[in-house]
Amino acid sequence: HEKKIIFSATQPSGKITLGNYLGALRNWVSLQEDYHALYCVADEHAITVRQDPAALRRQTLELYAQFIACGLDPEKSTIFIQSHVPQHAELAWTLNCYTMYGELSRMTQFKDKSAAHADNVNAGLFTYPSLMAADILLYQTDLVPVGEDQRQHVELTRNIAQRFNGIYGEVFTMPEAYIPKVAARVMSLSEPDKKMSKSSTNENSYILVMDPPEVILRKFKRAVTDSEGGVYRSPDKPGVSNLIEIYAAVTGKSPEAVEQEFSGQGYGAFKPAVGEAVVEALRPIREETQRLLADKAYLESLYRQGAEKAAAMANRTLRKVHKKVGF
Ligand code: ADP
Ligand code: NA
Repeated sequence: HEKKIIFSATQPSGKITLGNYLGALRNWVSLQEDYHALYCVADEHAITVRQDPAALRRQTLELYAQFIACGLDPEKSTIFIQSHVPQHAELAWTLNCYTMYGELSRMTQFKDKSAAHADNVNAGLFTYPSLMAADILLYQTDLVPVGEDQRQHVELTRNIAQRFNGIYGEVFTMPEAYIPKVAARVMSLSEPDKKMSKSSTNENSYILVMDPPEVILRKFKRAVTDSEGGVYRSPDKPGVSNLIEIYAAVTGKSPEAVEQEFSGQGYGAFKPAVGEAVVEALRPIREETQRLLADKAYLESLYRQGAEKAAAMANRTLRKVHKKVGF
């Protein structure tokens, strides 16, 4: 491979927000040009907490369809479902034997999740980082696009790779965390000092890519602003600043141009305009997702092909690993 390899996994929660789209997915679409990209729907990671099986299966397909609808291209990239490539679980076992109990105990996500799911602190929750290391190392990944919260996992992956390579020679490429330069940060519509997140209990605080137009328009009409009235960015106007950034991001205009466009106008005109612009930006994605989900055979042909491509790459690494450890 002359192109660098990028690997990214997303858990199938079934929902993608406008924040996920503008902050991550849209960027992934452009990365496809310069990198060999692998995009994985991480259903094996999802079962560290209890899931309803039918819901998990549906959400996995929905996320896969949304990946494609957002512009991830199965011709350019390798787009697949984790459980369809058993090499992930297989390498994870071997890596478990090169991952220290102490290292796993120090992971902040384990501490947080075992507190949140105190009735189900299972071994999978604990060894989740070695499955994540397997995800990354299987493909000789160079770069892992992650948010700040995932940095610790990439660090651990590097430690495991270093330990293994130290014993057996150069088996794994040393991956690096990749924090994109111009990542848009979309804030909550109800509490604009927080990031927009689907984990919020207030459904009006986030826009889902699959929200129907009338829901999107309603949420923007209710978006928190301020009593001052002007459409311009300022630290003491986080709500309006966020709406300006969103409008700019979905129309491709600069925030300055947006301020000019609405200068002298009130929020009564601005908020519906942002809503309309978001509706138009998300419409093709929503419609394409629905079309894909209605055409199960086509969707299946895509994810089968993705799994085959991924497995071929994974097997090359796994064969080396097995030889090294004595299988
Ligand atoms: P959520 O908070 O919606 O559950 P995740 O934490 O699962 O989102 O993040 C998935 C990806 O989307 C990450 O790459 C993250 O950086 C990006 N992302 C999530 N929320 C936002 C946001 N509000 N603005 C920009 N990017 C975001
Ligand atoms: Na989250």
